[in-house]
Amino acid sequence: MQLRQTMGLLVVTASVSLLGIAGCTSQTDQTNSGSQTQQGESNTQTPKGKPDVIYVPTPDKVVAEMLQLANVSEDDVVYDLGSGDGRIPIMAAKRYGARGVGVEIDSGRIQQARENAREAGMAKSVKFIQQDLFKTDLSEATVVTLYLLPELNVKLRPKLLRELEPGTPIVSHSFDMGEWEPERVVKVGDSTVYLWTVPEKIPEHLR
Ligand SMILES: C[S@@+](CC[C@H](N)C(=O)[O-])C[C@H]1O[C@@H](n2cnc3c(N)ncnc32)[C@H](O)[C@@H]1O
Repeated sequence: MQLRQTMGLLVVTASVSLLGIAGCTSQTDQTNSGSQTQQGESNTQTPKGKPDVIYVPTPDKVVAEMLQLANVSEDDVVYDLGSGDGRIPIMAAKRYGARGVGVEIDSGRIQQARENAREAGMAKSVKFIQQDLFKTDLSEATVVTLYLLPELNVKLRPKLLRELEPGTPIVSHSFDMGEWEPERVVKVGDSTVYLWTVPEKIPEHLR
């Protein structure tokens, strides 16, 4: 038990460092949006498990680039895995008419995201599910967005490749996917955005 706690602490410490290195230094001002009302819909699930990575929001101009790179349209269902305050699904709905789904383990973030969706007039176009992203059924997603950590991307990779249809774009803010070479790498100021497309045939080394 003690070993697990120590490991947990190490993961959180590493997450803070990595996200800091990735240039997400806007945590302080942007998490101020976390002080928005936490009232609103009650959660349908009890919190289970701890976040694998801390909350750091993607700057709006990077969100815009991620959605553009994924070529999002009104026909899409955009899943943001670890959705924080909901800004990615909300922008996908507002700007492109897509359906947005945010998956988030933290109940406070879920409430904040729902409130933000209401404020943006997008409550009918987006939904937020309180769940561990590693347990989420991804089969209806036509676009997936990520802002996690390199090791989480790699851990998630087989699930993405297994559950998403060939041709589905995946975009990640800041972090790559190990041996899976990205199709495009785009710089937005200090940030980097990666794009992959799920192939028809999954190479052995990526499974
Ligand atoms: C770096 S933030 C990114 C937030 C948002 N996607 C964005 O780009 O602005 C990562 C988010 O993932 C959530 N998270 C961490 N581990 C998770 C897990 N296993 N399942 C679901 N959400 C998780 C955290 O609570 C946090 O809100």
